[in-house]
Amino acid sequence: MKILIVGSGGREYAIALALKRDESVECLYFAPGNGATDELGVNVDIKDFEKLALFVKEENIELTIVGPEAPLVEGIVDIFKKHGLVIFGVSKDAAKLEGSKAFMKDFLSRHNIPTARYIQTDSIKKADEFIDTLTAPIVVKADGLCAGKGVIIAKSKKEAKNSARDMLNGESFGDAGKNIVIEEFLDGYELSIFAVCDGENYKILPAAQDHKRLLDGDKGPNTGGMGAYAPTPLANDDIYAQVEEFVVKPTLKGMKDEGMPYTGVLFVGAMVVNKKVYVLEYNVRFGDPECEVLMPLLKTSAKDLFYKAAIGRLNELDLKFKDEFAVGVVAASKDYPYRNSELKPIAVEDENNSNSHVAYAGVSKKDGVIYASGGRVLVCVGIGKSIKEARDNAYDLTKKVSYDGIKFRNDIAYQALK
Ligand code: AMP
Ligand code: GLY
Repeated sequence: MKILIVGSGGREYAIALALKRDESVECLYFAPGNGATDELGVNVDIKDFEKLALFVKEENIELTIVGPEAPLVEGIVDIFKKHGLVIFGVSKDAAKLEGSKAFMKDFLSRHNIPTARYIQTDSIKKADEFIDTLTAPIVVKADGLCAGKGVIIAKSKKEAKNSARDMLNGESFGDAGKNIVIEEFLDGYELSIFAVCDGENYKILPAAQDHKRLLDGDKGPNTGGMGAYAPTPLANDDIYAQVEEFVVKPTLKGMKDEGMPYTGVLFVGAMVVNKKVYVLEYNVRFGDPECEVLMPLLKTSAKDLFYKAAIGRLNELDLKFKDEFAVGVVAASKDYPYRNSELKPIAVEDENNSNSHVAYAGVSKKDGVIYASGGRVLVCVGIGKSIKEARDNAYDLTKKVSYDGIKFRNDIAYQALK
């Protein structure tokens, strides 16, 4: 089978590595891919979705898998389906669960799915009145996509009111902040839980934990994620059962009832407070770097998982995971997350090890050399029989990777190891 992967990050690289473990996968294509994906398949430089669909038809590509949220929100799935193509990802309507926090919160509320108390509004007066009913810290969120930056945790009512006003005036996040969500602060621990869904059926993957802050000890600014591990012992049977009964099932039913059957990845950003699961946010795709630690743990063929989900036949699949752990340490560029850094050549020694590998993300290629081209450059993934062993394998690999300005956290998986 020929498969196209849409996206260019470490998440898409990890999906490709998992697909390649199935011998029936004959060729992979990436649109657009990165400077390392061309070693796993063919990079395709077609941005227009209609033209990309025609390319997929011409090449007889039987399955397309969409990695990031942007093409989903822009409607790639609807266009591919109009052409009769098999594609794994959510429709433009369903992508609103990530594209609009106001839509997502109202959906949770309509279907009684546990979440923080909130209002969504475009009125400064209503924002101020609701803030007065809360106690600090108070969370203020821009409605639209802001590349993970649209959330302010205000330490006082005054700061919350100022943040709300700046967003509503369009000063902090432009149009994405013309509508806002204000909600109570939930004090617990966060989990990333993923359900692969086919519109009706779902498969829940082992729970992962991300590390959003730049620096050790969860200090510094928020990032896209500096490392992840899975499965996390912080998710026990009761937590999986709550996610299934009170989150995933009512979400799939609600989306179907509202005319937007959910086919794709449901990423539940969960906060556990006093053993109870609340939904902080939904994303309509795999997390990055969570995907990089989940894909290596798949025992079932990744091709079967995504293909059966895309054609609505997940019920036929017995999804199995290895009895192992994975830890991923993100290596970022010098000035991440503040600004882009200059291109720097990457050297990796002894890359092909059975218990560790590199998932390439922000890289480009020139004259056969792979360069760190900014942001999150790559993920060092370690596998092991315990979290500690996986963590040690991941950090051993970081010692073999070098480029000018490399930086990473030294405490990935600390919550599971303390
Ligand atoms: P979001 O994009 O909505 O996931 O928010 C980004 C991050 O802000 C989350 O991963 C949490 O760390 C934090 N956050 C968002 N909403 C809340 C909340 N209601 N209570 C506590 N922390 C929150
Ligand atoms: N790692 C969190 C995300 O992908 O949104």
